[in-house]
Amino acid sequence: HNEKTPSFHVRPDKKTYHCFGCGKGGGLITFYMEMEKLDFVEAALMLAKKAGVEVVYEGGGPSEIVRDDTKEQLIDLYKRVAGTFHFLLTSSDMGKSVLEYLSERGINGEMIELFGLGFAPADRRWLHRFLTGKGYSPEFLEKSGLFSKKYPEAAFFSNRLMFPICDRRGQTVAFGGRILAGEGPKYINSGEMIQYKKGETLFAFHLALPEIRTEKSIILCEGYMDVIAWHQAGIRRAVAPLGTALTEGQVQLISSFADTVFLSFDSDEAGQKATEKAVLLCRKSGLTVYVISITGGKDPADILLNHGPELLHDILKNAIIDMEYLLKLYAQKSSMDTIEGKTKAALALFPYISSLKVGIQRESSLNRVAQYYSLSPVELQNDFRHYTEYGSVPEKTRRDPGKPIKKTAEIRAMLAIVSNIEYFTLMRSTLNSDDFEDSAARDLFIIIEECYRDDALTPDSILSRCTGEMLKNLVTETVISGEFAENSQQTIKDSIRLIKRNSLERRRIRIVNKIRQNRGITLDEKQVLHNLVAEKMSIDEEFIRLKDVRA
Ligand code: UTP
Ligand code: MN
Repeated sequence: HNEKTPSFHVRPDKKTYHCFGCGKGGGLITFYMEMEKLDFVEAALMLAKKAGVEVVYEGGGPSEIVRDDTKEQLIDLYKRVAGTFHFLLTSSDMGKSVLEYLSERGINGEMIELFGLGFAPADRRWLHRFLTGKGYSPEFLEKSGLFSKKYPEAAFFSNRLMFPICDRRGQTVAFGGRILAGEGPKYINSGEMIQYKKGETLFAFHLALPEIRTEKSIILCEGYMDVIAWHQAGIRRAVAPLGTALTEGQVQLISSFADTVFLSFDSDEAGQKATEKAVLLCRKSGLTVYVISITGGKDPADILLNHGPELLHDILKNAIIDMEYLLKLYAQKSSMDTIEGKTKAALALFPYISSLKVGIQRESSLNRVAQYYSLSPVELQNDFRHYTEYGSVPEKTRRDPGKPIKKTAEIRAMLAIVSNIEYFTLMRSTLNSDDFEDSAARDLFIIIEECYRDDALTPDSILSRCTGEMLKNLVTETVISGEFAENSQQTIKDSIRLIKRNSLERRRIRIVNKIRQNRGITLDEKQVLHNLVAEKMSIDEEFIRLKDVRA
């Protein structure tokens, strides 16, 4: 890894190494395992091959040896075919018009060499003739993935610009081919083979690895041409999935070498969807994600062609953290003037927030959502908790006549007051309407407060002010049934205290959250917080002293 001071130490006599920077150390095989992210057997086999040492298995050895041989043969074949396609592109008459095409698209010769671009001849029989002429058996070629399944002598790729796809070590294991003329899909790609696991391979990963290692970050693009554009601009840590959506295996590969991902997907609807999915997948692996906003062209290749490399450097510098990207995206998708719109936008962020690995990060993200859409952080946290527990958001108790009113502790306290109206003076000396969490209870409190100020504390005048049908029914029922008439003064005092305590607790959380959001609090708020904590503590103490608390 990068260090300013020389901390890597090798002892040739003992064949060991130690890094004083990170504390890692070991022998040759461990070093190779660490650097190349291999397991022991892979590392041992590769080192043996490099050094020309024969590997002898005790007790027979694994049966994979036979299969491994076909794999090696296929890799040799693909290397040869990639070389042939490259030769046809760069040094034969066949390739001339394709070279012209590449130059029109702004791709330079250095990139053609670096990526080993090639040309697959229009004559479908050409490759088979060529390879059998070199001594390959038709049986082997039939299973090579380079020919049609139906017509084993017809090449799978013909008259296409060829992109070799390499494994981590830079060995060609597959191809992508872009159409140049005629009908057919724009790109066709090799299928899975023993040497090629699509879901664990990224286009150009081997070329990007040195810069990924030093920068600890990677640029993830949509396609072959985009990757080449970034590399040509001198930004050499760009890779792409292979004609499919990003997979977990690819993200795993990324996270063994990088801790940050820059997403460089098209700005169209499909690119947006791909970005959202990639954000979740990368975050679930603990990667930090930035989103590059593609401006000045439809994709990086376009930008390079029309504006030159500087603009690519600029848009990379201007990448924004995924959270801010999503906040803005969802704000654009729904109306920020309505509560429904804001709620929808906030809820759309829940999958993102749950994908974050660290609790404090989830918490500050929730606060950021609340701040960005101007919503209550406490309520948002409640909804998020519900979302993570049940996978959905709770339906709030509504005050419209259709929905029954839930008998929360607060509503029960208010009904007890209705039945023992003389205690309202006691209640209003401790509570005000802001202390209620339950909106039906708060409404009832406000109604009774109005009656009190009008000097009309009677069941009739309370009823006449109830607007909702359900609330009216509830009050009538309470008065008639006498359900709460027996409540003692102590019970009512306890419930007043409980409401006050819960209210203080919510206020305290709000203030603490504000501090955590790094917005800082004003001196006034500090005083309020201090008073609140003191008040809450004294109420807590009183609470403990009361033996018979009914909540
Ligand atoms: P794009 O259509 O964006 O292609 O598809 P591109 O790489 O930018 O190429 P140009 O600029 O049009 O020449 C993005 C990626 O999706 C896969 C390929 O991997 C491509 O690079 N793809 C696309 C296919 O596999 N098949 C297709 O038919 C189209
Ligand atoms: Mn393109």
